[in-house]
Formats: sequence, C-alpha cells, structure tokens
Amino acid sequence: MRKPIIAGNWKMHKTAGEAVALAGELQALTKAATAVELVICPPFTALAAVAGVVAGSAIGLGAQNMHWEDQGAFTGEVSPGMVKDIGCTHVIIGHSERRQYFAETDQTVNLKVKAACKAGLTPILCVGETLAERESGATEQVVGGQTNSGLAGLTAEQVAKLVIAYEPVWAIGTGRTASAADANAVCAFIRSTVAAGFGQTAAGQVRIQYGGSVKPDNIAELMAKPDIDGALVGGASLEAGSFSKLVKF
Ligand code: G3P
Repeated sequence: MRKPIIAGNWKMHKTAGEAVALAGELQALTKAATAVELVICPPFTALAAVAGVVAGSAIGLGAQNMHWEDQGAFTGEVSPGMVKDIGCTHVIIGHSERRQYFAETDQTVNLKVKAACKAGLTPILCVGETLAERESGATEQVVGGQTNSGLAGLTAEQVAKLVIAYEPVWAIGTGRTASAADANAVCAFIRSTVAAGFGQTAAGQVRIQYGGSVKPDNIAELMAKPDIDGALVGGASLEAGSFSKLVKF
C-alpha cells in the first residue's frame, strides 16, 4: 500500500514570520492526519524558521529547488547539503514554473534528482504538458519523456522511494483542474513508464501526485483514483483552513 502524500508548494509567498505562523496553525490542525504524509515547502528564506516549528512532528519540510553541485562559485544557488542541513526531508525538482521561467531543462532536472537522492532528500519530480501539447495529442510523449529523462541513471530502489508530481501546466493556478479520470490516466501512464524502465516493484511503490488547482472540494474525487497517491498543492496550501482539509479527504 502506498501512503498518500500531500505537499504544499508555497511558491514565492510568505515571509519567515508568516511562514512560522502558518506552519504552527497547520501543525495544530493536522495532528490526527497520520494516514497521510504531509510536507510543506516554504521559500528558502523561511526554511530555517519553519524547520524549528515542524521539528519532531509528522510534517515534512521541502525546498522548492536546489542546485546539484555540492558547493562552489554558483552565486545565488543553494546546494543539496545546505537544504538537508537546514532540516529539509524533501525537495521539489523541475516544477513547470522553473522549466518555463528559469531555463530548467530535462538535463538539469536529472542532475538535481540524482543529487537529491545522493544527499538523502526525497525528490518530488514534476512533470506535465502545456495546453498546446495536450491539444496536439502529445501528452504521453511529453510526460513520458520528462519522466524517463528525470529518472535516468537512478536505481530501481531509488525510484521506488521518490515522488513524481503530474502537474498539467494548463491546470496550475488557473482554477481549471484536470478531470479525475484524465489525471488518473496520465498518472497510470507515468507508472507504466516507470515499470518499463525500472520494473514492476519500483512502479508499484513510487508515489505519483496530481497537482493543478487542487482544492478541498475536488481532493476526494482525485484521491479515490487508483493511480493518484497524493497532491502537490499551490494556492490552497497558503491558508491553514483549506490545506488542513486536503489531508482529511
Ligand atoms: O506545485 C503546485 C502547483 O503548481 C499547483 O498550483 O495553485 O494550481 O494548486 P495550484
């Protein structure tokens, strides 16, 4: 059985003080939600402060990005070791906003996924097609390609332990959710892609999230689908009331 994982991607929202307040509220509201793994991903500037709030609790802490090198002359970047050292358990890699606005490529995504595994962090590898790609019938080609290149060079054991987030770009922050059936179909396709590359055991264990306008009123339908193991949530994770409802679907 795969344990569902719900992660909140706070993107470029919340000062350290605001993040501490939200993490504290979440902790109080989600104490009983042990059937679900919960992860919050504040901006870098709030990680240290939020680490102090969630330490010793069941809430995991994720960074939203990182570099793949251990250290060096990379102004403005943060290394896997730094992310781990500050208390992170997870790291989002290859979010579509990074691919779209910050020149993230399949190659850099793969370097980061491998570096995260090496550092003992759980990568949340994001994949997803644009609206034009979906409308031209290229969803499987795009998502399959991003999955294969993102995971290249990993062992089946490493793949089994990580998380893949399927986030159709056209559903992010738009209020437009993929139907639960469509989301499940792509998640099932990702699982079959993992099976082809890494075997049935890894495919049966890897957790695949859906992301894109997930809200308290659509989470239950999404989570009822067999190949959807959780959600990567943007907007609805910025407020304790709505996010705490998402872990009690
Ligand atoms: O990573 C989460 C994401 O991009 C979805 O954002 O606001 O549509 O839930 P949102």
